[in-house]
Amino acid sequence: MLILGIETSCDETSAAIVEDGIGVRSNIVASQISIHSKYGGVVPEIACRAHLDSILPVISQALEEANCNWAEVAGIAVTTSPGLVGSLIVGVQAAKTLAWSRNLPLIPVNHVHAHAYSAVWAKEKWGLPAVALVASGGHTGIYLATEIDAPPRELGRTVDDAAGEAFDKVAKLLGLEYPGGPIIDRLARSGNKKAVKFPRAMMKKDSLDFSFSGLKTSVLYFLRDNETARTEDIAASFQEAVVDVLVGKVRIAALQEGVRHLFLCGGVASNTRLRERFLELENEGFICAISPAEFCTDNAAMIAGLGYHLLKKGITAPLTVEAKP
Ligand code: KG4
Ligand code: ZN
Repeated sequence: MLILGIETSCDETSAAIVEDGIGVRSNIVASQISIHSKYGGVVPEIACRAHLDSILPVISQALEEANCNWAEVAGIAVTTSPGLVGSLIVGVQAAKTLAWSRNLPLIPVNHVHAHAYSAVWAKEKWGLPAVALVASGGHTGIYLATEIDAPPRELGRTVDDAAGEAFDKVAKLLGLEYPGGPIIDRLARSGNKKAVKFPRAMMKKDSLDFSFSGLKTSVLYFLRDNETARTEDIAASFQEAVVDVLVGKVRIAALQEGVRHLFLCGGVASNTRLRERFLELENEGFICAISPAEFCTDNAAMIAGLGYHLLKKGITAPLTVEAKP
């Protein structure tokens, strides 16, 4: 069964054709990075206009690359929540219009659930129940996933900045471009992660919530007082602090829930050091499914993939469904 997925929750316009929830026939992602980078972050109004320009060509390209015609499409899955409202509306409206004109079921998909779903592409490492770390620019939380087609239950979350947001804000302090996450990742490889001892805000011992705003402020003060410090060392030390908190909390969650399967997903899951440290949890008997890099950052394959399972369960939306920020 082929599902068309549409994703426009932030600054990537994406459409994909996925077979039976797993076979990715196409996954087109039109990134707006070059448009937003000069502003140092995503400008919501500009993002939704750029989605308007790209949405139809991206959908056509997804169908073309998949060698698929409309008669073969069984349903249209779209991100309805959460995200930037103007951006979401573009995808939701396109999906509604196509569902109506092609007489196809419309499948509403939660973006965070879809990120957690993307661990399925780790293939044999995937299994349920699992503790999933979803770390991206808009949200960072730890979830308990028990069924593939049911929203994972939130166990803990950042009380302030999302992990990707922390990477991007610290990159800005370091004078790097947007999005800073991948740049910090690259610089950190030649830096000393023990150069600066930045704080690890773990909140209360057994709590699964965490915080990144204090860390960001520490970097700000450190930079003010140490103008000659190497950027690579600060990048590596900051990154290590974020990774310590994320991996530490996932470990606590897995022990609390008595779960062996762990998922690592979301844009920040592309981070080399996070992937490395996450995998080390296998030494303690956990099975770690890490979403392949192409499915970590926002993409429509994860929307179409999850959409297949939701449709099988009978979850569809009326054409009156609205985007929820
Ligand atoms: O999941 P995503 O594409 O969009 C949201 O749903 O937010 O995540 C984007 C975020 C950005 O903050 C970006 O800096 C971060 O993921 N990111 C990374 C890396 N690649 C992307 N952060 C750290 N290391 C990376 N390699
Ligand atoms: Zn995302």
